[in-house]
Amino acid sequence: MKSVKIDIAKTGIEIPAEMKAKTQEANALLHSGKGAGNDFLGWVHLPSSISDSELAAIEEVAAKLRAKADLVICIGIGGSYLGARAVLEAMSDPFKLLHKEQTQPTVVFAGQNISEDYTWELLDAAREHSIAAIVISKSGTTTEPAIAFRLIKAEIERRYGKQEAAERIVAVTDKARGALKTLATQEGYPTFVIPDDVGGRFSVLTPVGLLPLAVAGVDIRALVAGAQEMERATDEHVAFDENPAAIYAATRNLLYAAGKKIEILGSYEPRLQYINEWWKQLYGESEGKEGKGIFPASVTLTADLHSMGQYIQQGERTLFETIISVVKPAHEVKIQSDAENLDGLNFLAGKRISEVNRMAELGVQLAHMDGGVPNIRVEIPEVSAHVIGGLLYFFEKACGMSGYLLGVNPFDQPGVEAYKKNMFALLDKPGYEEASKAIKARL
Ligand code: PA5
Repeated sequence: MKSVKIDIAKTGIEIPAEMKAKTQEANALLHSGKGAGNDFLGWVHLPSSISDSELAAIEEVAAKLRAKADLVICIGIGGSYLGARAVLEAMSDPFKLLHKEQTQPTVVFAGQNISEDYTWELLDAAREHSIAAIVISKSGTTTEPAIAFRLIKAEIERRYGKQEAAERIVAVTDKARGALKTLATQEGYPTFVIPDDVGGRFSVLTPVGLLPLAVAGVDIRALVAGAQEMERATDEHVAFDENPAAIYAATRNLLYAAGKKIEILGSYEPRLQYINEWWKQLYGESEGKEGKGIFPASVTLTADLHSMGQYIQQGERTLFETIISVVKPAHEVKIQSDAENLDGLNFLAGKRISEVNRMAELGVQLAHMDGGVPNIRVEIPEVSAHVIGGLLYFFEKACGMSGYLLGVNPFDQPGVEAYKKNMFALLDKPGYEEASKAIKARL
């Protein structure tokens, strides 16, 4: 079973031989390590290099946290947050908290914002639970998770004492650098290392993603196996026409060159909403630089047909869409017949909801195409850990190739520093005295 099939028939694009060759070259550059940002290519062979003992170590620590806590707070931002959240939401029943019996610990997220209300409400709810925390930061110095961790660490220590806190807190960080590493060593927290050569947005298949997912009960071995399969399917030696990541990278660059500056990722399964968020970071941070790059946007369907649908159909013609199309739902619900038929829906009686969803998808695809919005379909057979692992790697591999086709370094993010400098200056951080005066004068 292939985890990803790509269909570009509804884009109006024929990929020229020259573009195919360039994309193959871009893929080869990722493998040879001779392209820009080549010190951050550890993700390319990450799935096949994860050892059984690494997975076992993650599962062991996850089992300890699961045994101690029914609420695990996962602290991180950006690449240290979105991958775990995306997979967790994809694999979760959105109504699980409504069930009286909880079979898995609940994993919630913190440190991905600096909202006082979010933090208060989380700490308030945490009082009713036995808690543990996973703190994730590659640099170990990012402000948002550092603030959240200071508060949550204090709460854990207040409730369980320092010694027990070291059994309930796990750090995922750089092997040697950063404040979090120093703190974790001093406090004796179990620690997992984020490899030097894997950037945040490519780190979901390291302990950054795997540990919280294992705690939540996701089958991380299936996730990794799916990614391994996709690593092989997108290898540099695979022919262009057989490589879904190469086709995706080439098509989106051709669309961009034809004036389609905005890509909307969407799906008809709401559980994939955070895959959209993860993808937005992956592509936005990798490609949006030097005044270039496709703007990554997203929709969740059919909900957003009733909000964004108007714009997509008739607004500025600078859009194209990529739809993650799920073939098989996990459950079956049929629409029943109604004797009175007051809602006029008896023409749907006996049909599965997924059949209606599928017809909505096909109808929208044609309508958008007719309206000048090219449509790429990324088809996945089902939402399972194995398939999602493949999907993640598919998007990563395509992103690396796509960035090289665009002519940027897809593995840096110099632009994210600008806001930090202003924020620190406004907060009077030591060392920012001059910047502080200057920025305050501009307010
Ligand atoms: O992709 C990236 O590099 C960023 O989004 C980082 O993941 C994010 O800024 C968090 O960084 P850190 O893990 O160092 O706290």
